[in-house]
Amino acid sequence: MRKVAVLGSTGSIGTQALEIIHANPELELHSLLCGSNLDLLMQQREQFSPSVTAIDSPGGECPGGIITGQDILQKTIDGADMVLNAIVGSAGLRASLICRERGIKLALANKESLVVGGELLSDHIRAGGIIPVDSEHSTIFRCLHSEPRPVRSITLTASGGSVRDLPIEELKNAGVDDILNHPTWNMGARITVDSATMVNKAFEVIEARWLFSGINIDVVLHPQSIVHSFVRLEDGSWKALLGKPDMKVPLQYALQYPGRELELISDDCPLDWGTLEFSELPRQRYPAFDLIVRAGQDGKTFPAAANAADEIAIAAFLARKISFGDITVVIEEVLKGHEALEVSDFQTVMEADRVSRIDAERIVRRLC
Ligand SMILES: NC(=O)c1ccc[n+]([C@@H]2O[C@H](COP(=O)([O-])OP(=O)(O)OC[C@H]3O[C@@H](n4cnc5c(N)ncnc54)[C@H](OP(=O)(O)O)[C@@H]3O)[C@@H](O)[C@H]2O)c1
Repeated sequence: MRKVAVLGSTGSIGTQALEIIHANPELELHSLLCGSNLDLLMQQREQFSPSVTAIDSPGGECPGGIITGQDILQKTIDGADMVLNAIVGSAGLRASLICRERGIKLALANKESLVVGGELLSDHIRAGGIIPVDSEHSTIFRCLHSEPRPVRSITLTASGGSVRDLPIEELKNAGVDDILNHPTWNMGARITVDSATMVNKAFEVIEARWLFSGINIDVVLHPQSIVHSFVRLEDGSWKALLGKPDMKVPLQYALQYPGRELELISDDCPLDWGTLEFSELPRQRYPAFDLIVRAGQDGKTFPAAANAADEIAIAAFLARKISFGDITVVIEEVLKGHEALEVSDFQTVMEADRVSRIDAERIVRRLC
């Protein structure tokens, strides 16, 4: 039996993970943690009876049996054999670092942990402590796992997001409802907006650099989201994992890893997939992609600043205070003014996150 802590249990990834754990006799739910959705958390507690149930921001009195406060991360992780980090945003970094400190296996959906603090987690990656949950990285992880020889490169596939077919001149003013209507994946609000700006794919490039260091990384547009990324071998042939988009596939793989028994999740076949298309990323449609990839190459606290700016800009966009196009403006301006430091510890990252949020809020006020 593997005891699993599910952090971000009320979200898109968290709820799917609970279904996987419930259906799998070798997995036991150890604990639940969410941000503020007390109602759903209480339902989950009732249904799954974990040892610990915790909430970050209860917004009032916490009902009996649910804990909150400074040390909830430690209390949720204590006693777990594996942690699924499905918290959204840089708020997830602290949990990943606790797993590293304690040598606990981390099934990582919270890509922001690696975007903002990859330096602080690299030894846990090298020690085999991180199993990626992002479908692209899970695919590469699986392809590399069964590949004894060195590989030539990695190609991440990108759906293009919800407004990929909108004329480019209409993109700037795309509405919230259109942006949240992703054509192939059903995900949380932040990652859905990030898919439309392609910030998500740029984050995934940074994530892949940490997870698969030393391997060249490309990105191609693949609107059907059937090929979940490729690995190119030394002889020029390609390896990939294919299937209809379903996060339960990478979730089950990570939660079971290195277990050998996998339940059937998706029984689609090639005849269901239709035509598979691949094309170059149209860079002019996705200006935020290059901004963030460059922030990743510049390193230091630039990625943390970019992430903080993006979180603030998305919240303002979803509150209908700024336009879709303004998200990129906020990221660009925050990065321009950012005084980057080497990522030496958690505090440095969090300070960059804090000042960048203040900068981003100032820019948002100007744009409103
Ligand atoms: N959704 C996908 O298909 C997908 C695919 C690949 C990777 N990911 C990654 O997985 C992560 C989660 O994505 P998602 O789509 O599941 O997001 P989501 O639906 O917005 O869920 C986010 C979860 O994080 C919790 N949370 C937020 N702030 C927290 C805090 N300070 N402390 C504890 N919990 C907190 C939320 O709680 P409340 O509900 O109470 O606010 C919720 O349970 C992201 O990093 C995303 O990039 C997601």
